[in-house]
Amino acid sequence: MNKIPLINPEIEKYAEEFSDSNKTILNQIKFDTSTKLRYSDMLSGNQVSGLLSLLIKISNAVNIAEIGVFTGFSTLMMAESLPDHGKLYCLEMNKKYLDIALPNLRQSASYNKIHILEGNAREKINELPNNLDLFFLDADKDYYATYYEVILSKLKSGGIIIADNVFWHGGVLDAKKDRKSSAIHEFNELVFSDKRVESVMLTVRDGISIIRKK
Ligand SMILES: C[S@@+](CC[C@H](N)C(=O)[O-])C[C@H]1O[C@@H](n2cnc3c(N)ncnc32)[C@H](O)[C@@H]1O
Repeated sequence: MNKIPLINPEIEKYAEEFSDSNKTILNQIKFDTSTKLRYSDMLSGNQVSGLLSLLIKISNAVNIAEIGVFTGFSTLMMAESLPDHGKLYCLEMNKKYLDIALPNLRQSASYNKIHILEGNAREKINELPNNLDLFFLDADKDYYATYYEVILSKLKSGGIIIADNVFWHGGVLDAKKDRKSSAIHEFNELVFSDKRVESVMLTVRDGISIIRKK
């Protein structure tokens, strides 16, 4: 796959800085991710998680879920955006990442809202409740289209899906797409033609689709 710079790096940095909520635990998560792991670029960052946070608040979401905790950045932002009685169900299969995430998440006053389902989301997703208001899809790109159908069935009418990496670093534009680029492109086509939803694709970072179930 031919990775292309999607957004001017200086503008990207500027936008990250101006979206920084500068919270102690979030800064600790960033620090731990960059010092304990060789690759930290899976961390969603200020713009994406800031968008999640605002969408949760604007939509008054109460029961929400995500696939892909990694080191806990989006998890913390989402949990802290929920009301006190809110619940965030998190699916993550990699224990090594959870071992980095959990000590930081436990520091948050919102830790009681976080329910981790450890294991492969392809199976664990069926354990989620059926009354979800919002879902963040940020893992296992080959499987986006399959997750989409299950998520839609678990989402309330008016509920929102936020899907990250819908450009797959520009791979969706390649004439000869690799496996993940093809999977993401097929997912994008599926959403675009789906009459059950309304959606918008945003050029935030690696592309974000916001999808509302009618
Ligand atoms: C892009 S990262 C998530 C980043 C995170 N949302 C954030 O804001 O920092 C993707 C995560 O999904 C996890 N993952 C990948 N495939 C999975 C699967 N089939 N089931 C559960 N977790 C999976 C990976 O271990 C990784 O931690």
